[in-house]
Amino acid sequence: MTRLRVGVLISGRGSNLRALLAACTDDAYPAEIVTVISDRAEAPGLAIAQSASVPNTVIPHRVREEFASEADAVLSNQRAQFVCLAGFVRVLDAAFVERWGDRMVNIHPSLLPAFPGLHPQRQALAAGVRFTGCTVHFVRPEVDAGPIIAQAVVPIRPDDDEASLSARILDAEHRLYPLTLRLIAEGRVQVLRGQVQIDGWRAPTLSMLNPCELA
Ligand code: GRF
Repeated sequence: MTRLRVGVLISGRGSNLRALLAACTDDAYPAEIVTVISDRAEAPGLAIAQSASVPNTVIPHRVREEFASEADAVLSNQRAQFVCLAGFVRVLDAAFVERWGDRMVNIHPSLLPAFPGLHPQRQALAAGVRFTGCTVHFVRPEVDAGPIIAQAVVPIRPDDDEASLSARILDAEHRLYPLTLRLIAEGRVQVLRGQVQIDGWRAPTLSMLNPCELA
């Protein structure tokens, strides 16, 4: 099996990177992480890459175009075919986004297009919604926009605060991101007229979404 060669861009904790690396330890998983790039030398996620023996590079984010050209060089040295943003907090150079086009995805802790931008968990609590979740989407120059590939729904509990809700969403992210990358690496994900089609996708039934079952 040829595995999809993936570069991961991080800025911080790296728990999604850890989840992706854990998925890749299965020989049957169709992707592998070949490089990790961080814009911050102090990102804890770098140690996760190191302990998995994945080449990792710090590219300080001074000028957007410079970061993009250095990141391109690292990705091409490692023959990366695909990019996952995992807690990468910078807005990327538009030409870089254009070049990677439908070969770069991001994960965001809300059900986009609701609550883009900063503090989406806080935004969800302030809006009083009953459910929120996380989204994996292709990257476009606009922040947290781009064709949606997969989403996971997370209930909001009456006693939730930002920390408890963030932890519940993060748990869903750690399952959703590896699942989505698998679908991509299997060649089942296509963008057609700005929307994503997934071969063999079956929507969950309404009974699976019944709030009474989410005690
Ligand atoms: C995650 O909540 C992700 O959705 C958002 O940033 C956070 C990164 O967490 N884009 P981690 O660095 O993967 O632990």
